[in-house]
Amino acid sequence: MCGIVGYIGERNAVDTIINGLSHLEYKGYDSAGIAVPQGAGVTIIRAVGKLDNLKEALSGKEIAATMGIGHIRWQAHTEVNAHPNRSDHIVLVHDGIVENYKELKDKLLNAGYQFQSDTDTEVITHLIHSMYKGDLSKAVYDAVAKVKGAYAVLAISTKEPEKLVAARRSSPLIIGVEEGGYIATSDIPAALEITRDFISLDDGDLALITPKNITIYDNTGKSIQRSTIHIDWDEEMAERDGFDDFMIKEIHEQPRTIMDTLRGKIIPDEGRIFLGELQELDVANLERIIFLACGTSWHASLLGKQFIERYAHIPVEVDIASEFPYRDLQLNKNTLCICISQSGETTDTKVAMRSALDKGAQVLAICNVVGASLAKESTYAIYTHAGPEISIASTKAFTSQALTILLIALWLGERRKVTDNKQIAEIFKDLMIVPERINAILEQKEAVKAVADQYKDSKNFVYLGRNLTAPIALEGALKLKETSYIHAEGYPAGELRHGPIALLDKTFPAMFLAPGIKVQESIFSILQEAKAKGGRVVAVFSEKDRDNHPECDHALFVPDCEVEEMAVFLTVVVAQLFAYYCAKGLGRDIDKPRNLSKAVI
Ligand code: F6R
Repeated sequence: MCGIVGYIGERNAVDTIINGLSHLEYKGYDSAGIAVPQGAGVTIIRAVGKLDNLKEALSGKEIAATMGIGHIRWQAHTEVNAHPNRSDHIVLVHDGIVENYKELKDKLLNAGYQFQSDTDTEVITHLIHSMYKGDLSKAVYDAVAKVKGAYAVLAISTKEPEKLVAARRSSPLIIGVEEGGYIATSDIPAALEITRDFISLDDGDLALITPKNITIYDNTGKSIQRSTIHIDWDEEMAERDGFDDFMIKEIHEQPRTIMDTLRGKIIPDEGRIFLGELQELDVANLERIIFLACGTSWHASLLGKQFIERYAHIPVEVDIASEFPYRDLQLNKNTLCICISQSGETTDTKVAMRSALDKGAQVLAICNVVGASLAKESTYAIYTHAGPEISIASTKAFTSQALTILLIALWLGERRKVTDNKQIAEIFKDLMIVPERINAILEQKEAVKAVADQYKDSKNFVYLGRNLTAPIALEGALKLKETSYIHAEGYPAGELRHGPIALLDKTFPAMFLAPGIKVQESIFSILQEAKAKGGRVVAVFSEKDRDNHPECDHALFVPDCEVEEMAVFLTVVVAQLFAYYCAKGLGRDIDKPRNLSKAVI
């Protein structure tokens, strides 16, 4: 996965691009590079390793350019494989995968092109060169038409100074607009120091950008207007805000992001919900809902199933997005597939969405990133408004996703006359206190740290929950494994007796998530059994059980809730903190866990 930034305008291009790349470092960190036109030529500087190495390579060089392109890349360990790459007068950066790379490369080799790198990107660069007949944008248009797969490209030519060409299909690319120029980039934080106004390119779009103008062409080559979206995020939202890592900063943001997710959607006292995005949905005839998502978003979907079945009485399935296209399903417009994705760019989820649409279902996308491909291609889209999530380990996106689905469940229930406004108002009464309850947990985070310190050296962990906390068990285990590299599994608690209990001993601890939910008593009995069999047990209980909970080795507490769903939002924060402090105690690079990237494209 890569991040790209291109700038053209009145600013110093090197500073603007490097600054932009620094906000994309979470996307990749094995190499970085920049290209800026200089007179009739172009200066290209690339460096292996973190962005600091590129900055080092640039230090002392006064490069007075006002346009250029830059790239940051994951999995490029040699300079030659870093971007930008060049074919004579054409210079290019690319984010994506060229699926027909081999076929195109063979043709280009036959045509006499020599390849310097092992990258699929170089195929696009030579292809553009081979098609160039004096018009860079036409050459890029013709070249990408031959590419199968995903691309977001930024191209320049020394023959056409003052032109930047941007094109995308299935990889993210947005264009920030300011008075004196344009910044094209894979993600919003890279441009926030310059602008809050963005043009989001549709799949297949190409933009020809000059210092003062932008012209966009759609995939048929027709000139087209794309609207400008204003993003409310401020720069600080995309920065660490004084926290050691983005993960802990984003955990702390949850009291606010929960309110941001709710903003404009509810009148709490009246139990009313406004989801204008779904006004065209034929709720009365809805027969079936299928959630499609990956990773943390899949765990939010598991909660969604419980919320919708409980409050709207509609049968719900949850599928791992990458499995869904292989199912033989007869769907129709009375099936709603809900695709959840923080980034809105996860390939598995996009492929599942397209498969759902092909099968005749309607699709609702729930995304955090505004203008994401998933939101654009689906029938309906709702944004979670959690702000930029930089940490690879997803935290605030999860709580906002879960909350969005709770709202959808209640909204559907109200329309189907299963749940009334009075019930919804009761739920909202408790929901409005969730931010302050999360703050109470955050104020006690040292207690979680103290327990994490006791467990961080474990090699294995099992997380157990029941009903509403079963998805949190899966999410807690995922957070632990991806940030600390401790092997962890999450299970519905009842499954413990069907095998995993054999593993428990003093070196293989279990985390029970047993806050005040209806099924709490039944988890208590499984906890007691695990303890009796010699297991080492840490558990999350409600405050009300502080003096009266089953025996365990370490206990953590969350504030009491009236409505049991609210305990979910509190329990997951404890699980997030626990994972964070285990990883911190082990000295892990928390925001950039090995082998992971923010969106799996
Ligand atoms: C875990 C994590 C991943 C993502 C998954 C889906 O912390 O971040 O498991 O949840 O890759 O990503 P999105 O939601 O962007 O589709």
